[in-house]
Amino acid sequence: MKDQFRKDTPINYEDVVRQISEMNLSSVGKASIREIKRLVDNIERATGEKYIRMEMGIPGLLPSSIGTEAEIEALRNGVAAIYPDIDGIPELKKEISRFVKNFMNIDVKPDACIPTVGSMQGSFAAFLTLSRMQPEKDTTLFIDPGFPVHKQQHKVLGQKFESFDVYSYRGEKLREKLESYFKKGNIHSVLYSNPNNPSWICFTETELKIIGELATQYDVVICEDLAYFGMDFRKDYSIPGVPPYQPSVANYTENFMLFISSSKVFSYAGQRIGMMVISNKLFNKKAQGLTKYYSSDLFGRAMIFGTVYALSSGTAHSAQYALAAMLKAANDGRFNFVEEVKIYGEKAKIMKKLFLDAGFKIVYDADGDVPIADGFYFTISYPGFTGEELIEELIFYGISAISLAITGSERTEGLRACVSLVKPSQFPDLEARLKKFKIHHSK
Ligand SMILES: Cc1ncc(COP(=O)(O)O)c(C=O)c1O
Repeated sequence: MKDQFRKDTPINYEDVVRQISEMNLSSVGKASIREIKRLVDNIERATGEKYIRMEMGIPGLLPSSIGTEAEIEALRNGVAAIYPDIDGIPELKKEISRFVKNFMNIDVKPDACIPTVGSMQGSFAAFLTLSRMQPEKDTTLFIDPGFPVHKQQHKVLGQKFESFDVYSYRGEKLREKLESYFKKGNIHSVLYSNPNNPSWICFTETELKIIGELATQYDVVICEDLAYFGMDFRKDYSIPGVPPYQPSVANYTENFMLFISSSKVFSYAGQRIGMMVISNKLFNKKAQGLTKYYSSDLFGRAMIFGTVYALSSGTAHSAQYALAAMLKAANDGRFNFVEEVKIYGEKAKIMKKLFLDAGFKIVYDADGDVPIADGFYFTISYPGFTGEELIEELIFYGISAISLAITGSERTEGLRACVSLVKPSQFPDLEARLKKFKIHHSK
C-alpha cells in the first residue's frame, strides 16, 4: 500500500500494525489458519470493527431439529451408558446404504457403511489400513488442492504421500498424469475432495471415468471425500431416487471408499460424526499384507475389528441416532438437506461478483467449459500480488482469508475465501472495503 493511503484504510492502520506486532507474527501471509483467526479476533476486539471473515471453513447454519431431537431422545433413553457396536447401530447402517442408493444411485450393503468420528477419523482409518494391504504399495496420492489435515494425518502416521495440483491436468490430460504415478507401482490409494476444498472445482464425468478406469487397471483404491455432498448447486441432487445424482467415481470402479461428512451438509460438525462407505468388493477383498497387523486378511473386517476398534471403538452412540434420523428423513423425501445449505451458493454468487468488480480474479474458475459452481468456497487473486502479500494487504481492509499455498496448490497467487461466516448484512461493508482497495491499488 502506498504511504499516502495509510490514513484511509477501512480498519485503522496503526491498530492493525500494533496487533500484528503484539502477536509476534513474522509474516501475516505465512500465518496458519488458527493464527489468522486469533489475529482477527484481537483486531476486532481492539477496534470494535467487524471483519469479513472468510478464513475458517466452519458451518454457519443451525442443524435440522430432526437430528438434535433424535439425539436428545436417544440420550433420554440411556444410550450414553451403552457401548455402540464398533461398526455402527443397524438403523444408521441401513440409512447410509439407502442414502447412497437414493442420492448417488450406487449399491453398497449396510455392512460396509460405517459411521466414524467425523470424516477425519474415516480417512485416518483408511490410510492406516490401505497402506498395509500390499507392502510394495506404501504411498497415497493426493489430487490437490486439498485439505491440509489429510497430509497432517500422513505425517502423524509416518506414511508417505505424493501430490500434484490438478489445475493444469483437467479433462483428458488427467489420464496421463495419473498414470505416470500409478505406473510406478507404489500408490495404494488416491484422495481428492469433490466438490473440492479449497477451490470448489468439481470433477466432470469424463474425469471421474478416467480416475475410475485407472483405479481398476492399476489396483488403486480411490478415496472420494464428499464433505460437500450435493453442494454443487448447478444441478439439483436433492430428490431421492431421481437423477441427477451426486457424481462419483463409484460409477466407474469397484475400488472405492467414500467419506461423507455430516459437518457441512447436515451442519453437524460439533458431534463429530461422518460416514465411511466401502465398496462391496473392497469390503470383502483379501490382502495378505493385512495379516501382519490384523487377525483377518479381509479388508472390511480389518477395518472394523482392527483399525476402528483400536482408534475409538466406534462412534458416539447418541450422534448415530441423530444422523440416522436425518438420513431417514432425507431418504423418505421428508427433509431436503440440499435446500438447507443452498444459502452458501447464494452468498458466494454475490460475493464473487463484488470481488470481480473490484479487479480480483477467480483462480480456479471452470470445470471443463463450464464456470465453477457457487458454493462454500471460492478462490481469488489480485494482479501483482502473491497470496501472502494479498492476505497481508487485505487485513487492513477488514477482510480475512487463507493462502492457497498451504493446500498443495501451485497457484500461490491465490487465496481461499469461505462464505459460511459472512452475513448478507455485511455485503455493503464488503463492497465498500473492496472499492477502497481498488482505488488504493489501481495503477
Ligand atoms: C474436504 C474435507 N474433508 C473432510 C473434512 C472434515 O470433515 P469432518 O468434520 O466430518 O471430520 C472437511 C472439513 O472442513 C473438509 O473440508
